[in-house]
Amino acid sequence: MRLIIREDADTAAEYIAEYIIERINTFAPTTERPFILGLPTGSSPVPIYRSLVTAYQMGRISFRHVITFNMDEYVGLPRDHPESYYTFMHTNLFNHVDIDPDNINILNGNAPDLQEECTMYEAKIQKYGGIHLFLGGVGSDGHIAFNEPGSSLSSRTRLKSLAYETMLANARFFNGDMGLVPRMALTVGVQTIMNAKEVVIIATGASKALAIQSAIEGGVNHMCTLSCLQLHPCSLVVVDQDATMEL
Ligand code: GLP
Repeated sequence: MRLIIREDADTAAEYIAEYIIERINTFAPTTERPFILGLPTGSSPVPIYRSLVTAYQMGRISFRHVITFNMDEYVGLPRDHPESYYTFMHTNLFNHVDIDPDNINILNGNAPDLQEECTMYEAKIQKYGGIHLFLGGVGSDGHIAFNEPGSSLSSRTRLKSLAYETMLANARFFNGDMGLVPRMALTVGVQTIMNAKEVVIIATGASKALAIQSAIEGGVNHMCTLSCLQLHPCSLVVVDQDATMEL
């Protein structure tokens, strides 16, 4: 696990955007050989998406041969709800770049059979030979995707109840009303992320400092699922100064 420290949230995001651009361009994807990119939601990746859109507008990157898999989605929110991860991804990235809508994969939190939805999602990732680069954020309790404390480190895509701390943190997106935050989500598992060839994590702000300390200086621990990246042969954690406060 490599740790990269940047001055602030914007420069950390800029570092990751350039990293992704370099990876995709070096891979030089084609229709027969697409680049498979895992993507997160949350406030931390927003400046990364902004930089990627700017790079696309400048002709520095194309998403034509990129296939995306999002990490997670709330259960029960309509797809067009302003806080669904489907809406988030389209508003922040997909509507502004040349990605083929058929190449966008987001878990359907309204599927009639949620377990089947998760099994199919995992199978589709395998069908493409796995994720080349999984970008992720981290919750203040150290979760990656929605792999809340206590998640099995060998977990795959599945239905998960959200931790109280996550619902509290995400209430800011629902007019501060915790009662409006969905209680369950579909999420890729820890092992789904571990199987990616490369994992890049963004963590910015003082609220992530304890999680970063536990993930980097603590042992591999299912109470802080980010820590399992210590075992990944190619993982990168990019933080700003504030997120290093407990190191
Ligand atoms: C949610 C998402 C995570 C994300 C986390 C942190 O719980 N499921 O994937 O990493 O929020 O979000 P933020 O970047 O807004 O702090």
